[in-house]
Amino acid sequence: MPTKDAAELDRIVLDYTNVMADAIGSEHGIVHGELSSELSRVKEISRSLKKQRADGKLAFMDLPHQKGWVREIEGYVRRMPKTIENFVVIGIGGSALGNIMLHSALNHSEYNLLSRERRKGRPRMFFLDNVDPDRTASLLEALDPRKTVFNVITKSGDTAETMSNFLVARQWLLRSVGKKALARHIVATTDAKKGHLRKLVEKEGYESFVVPDGVGGRFSVLTPVGLVSAAVSGINIRKLLAGGAKMDEICQTDSPTENPAALNALLHYLLDTRKGKKISVMMPYVQRLRDFADWYRQLWAESLGKKYSLDGKEVYTGQTPVKALGATDQHSQIQLYMEGPFDKVVTFIGLKRYPREVTIPRAFTDMEGISYLGGRQLGELLKAEQESTALALAKNQRPNCTVTLPRLDAFVLGQMIYLYEVQTAFAGALYGVNPFDQPGVELGKHYACGTMGRKGYEQYRDEVDRGLSKGMRMTV
Ligand code: PA5
Repeated sequence: MPTKDAAELDRIVLDYTNVMADAIGSEHGIVHGELSSELSRVKEISRSLKKQRADGKLAFMDLPHQKGWVREIEGYVRRMPKTIENFVVIGIGGSALGNIMLHSALNHSEYNLLSRERRKGRPRMFFLDNVDPDRTASLLEALDPRKTVFNVITKSGDTAETMSNFLVARQWLLRSVGKKALARHIVATTDAKKGHLRKLVEKEGYESFVVPDGVGGRFSVLTPVGLVSAAVSGINIRKLLAGGAKMDEICQTDSPTENPAALNALLHYLLDTRKGKKISVMMPYVQRLRDFADWYRQLWAESLGKKYSLDGKEVYTGQTPVKALGATDQHSQIQLYMEGPFDKVVTFIGLKRYPREVTIPRAFTDMEGISYLGGRQLGELLKAEQESTALALAKNQRPNCTVTLPRLDAFVLGQMIYLYEVQTAFAGALYGVNPFDQPGVELGKHYACGTMGRKGYEQYRDEVDRGLSKGMRMTV
């Protein structure tokens, strides 16, 4: 249970009171015996993860300690010509969600609207992580190619969405800056040796960064995948990594009740497998963390949603992650969470103190229904909403926990990223699945390649055609 001492002021606090049976009853909450019966298994998992790490099999765990590419990235940022006004990340999934999360969490909320001076000369940031033609065309229409750099990110080097957007952007650049200047407008982040993008780097001479071996997309935000665009927009990537390193230190203990990654994985696993909480909602009451919830959604879904266990049995595991935002989604989803099926666990993320406050003006003092707000702070209201929702859910026997951050900066975000990545590794081991592959995503990619006529993928095209001919449709 959390203790309120002075040290808490500067620490992340995980309050799990409301997932326990003491608070919400044993039908939906975890009984102490259920928790303790799994502690020795979690200890074993902790030791096994350490062994795998020592054997070089969990490269993502070492990322906060890799300083080599930080200097390279800082050098790249220094060299970027002052004429560049726009920086566009092209990627998808793990090659984009981390970038978006870092930007929205750590940069000014209206970063692109700030004057160049207030952005300290840094370019505006854009993220192209879909192939909706309207989005791609609209973005290019709004930008000046001579003042734009594209950071194309793909570990495999041939993801159809990313490479299509890249080919469109490259053509668009070619038309205005010409072949000679093309490379000055492109920076690639991809595998050191494999894939078509690496071949293009060599052929056309783009600047490039490496996605290290053994680090999957959704675990790669603390590599050049996430760090290049972060540094370009002025985020302190050294502090981000220092936060990750600090969390690594915290997660060294094999004692599950002292290791937040192990404990939170175990709580979610028990809620899923013993209490039927098949849905895990992450609901920050911090606008800047809305995309952290999006990043988490991919991490939890792709890592744990598996058909086969490690020993080859069909298991169909995984908790469905849902993202929500407080207080906005109190007015869209909370009714369901409060009174709908008993199938969810909610994680609130809050801030000890909001970095800035807005006072609600005193006005209309004769109107009791609104005058009580006068003189109070918006942050006070948001916090009150968060705490009230947690309490109301608990009253309705709905498990929920709260992660409170001391502040939101690069260090604390680095801690949170690392915490959730390690938590996912623990959860994978608890479910007995491999959290680092994504065969389901790959299958979808194969069908798309088949449909688009890629050589070698004909069988997938035939399957899609057969499926379409049998389809049932209603035209209205
Ligand atoms: O987490 C993952 O591995 C995936 O989401 C990938 O990041 C995504 O499919 C994009 O792959 P790539 O970086 O190879 O383009």
